[in-house]
Amino acid sequence: MIRILAFAGSARKNSFNKAILKVAAQGAVDAGAPIMDEDLEAQSGIPTNAQKFKQLMMEHDGFLIASPEHNSAYSALLKNTIDWASRRAEGEKPLEVFKGKMAGIMAASPGALGGLRGLVSLRMLLENLGVMVLPNQKAVSKVSALINEQGGIDDEQTIAGLKRIGKELTETLAKLNRQ
Ligand SMILES: Cc1cc2nc3c(=O)[nH]c(=O)nc-3n(C[C@H](O)[C@H](O)[C@H](O)COP(=O)(O)O)c2cc1C
Repeated sequence: MIRILAFAGSARKNSFNKAILKVAAQGAVDAGAPIMDEDLEAQSGIPTNAQKFKQLMMEHDGFLIASPEHNSAYSALLKNTIDWASRRAEGEKPLEVFKGKMAGIMAASPGALGGLRGLVSLRMLLENLGVMVLPNQKAVSKVSALINEQGGIDDEQTIAGLKRIGKELTETLAKLNRQ
């Protein structure tokens, strides 16, 4: 059974990145991934919650990650989350939570580049930790114009692009699991 954990690097209540993550997660569900889980408020930086979040990461084969771009990089909250998870607990292999896992990455921004620059460094970081990152990624630009009153994404083309990330992640993990 493939298990994918979806999480965003934003703590903002009406986060655009949480909104795009929901769409990508639906793409994974549509492709047969059994469980989607997204949360980031529960892991706001204190060690107990970081530990709980690491345990969640341990239990999943793949990650769907959406991060805001802050000054051309992925968010400090996301970096903090990854840094806590990278700490080796007793009995664990180095970077066990990351190695052999796969990720699909995305970003949303009200700006013209959609957080594209942050994805470059996020990809590099994840690969350095042993996570295989899907070649396809999605940066949603001018996202404020695509959000409806319920905080969801309305634009069909954007929805298709985001769902494709979830679908590709699910299908690639399924292929790997069959070996
Ligand atoms: C400190 C800071 C730096 C930012 N830098 C960028 C940036 O480099 N590029 C960009 O597209 N948006 C930038 N933004 C705007 C964010 O894209 C915007 O706040 C976005 O809504 C955050 O994502 P969220 O809605 O998921 O929280 C910045 C925002 C903050 C607070």
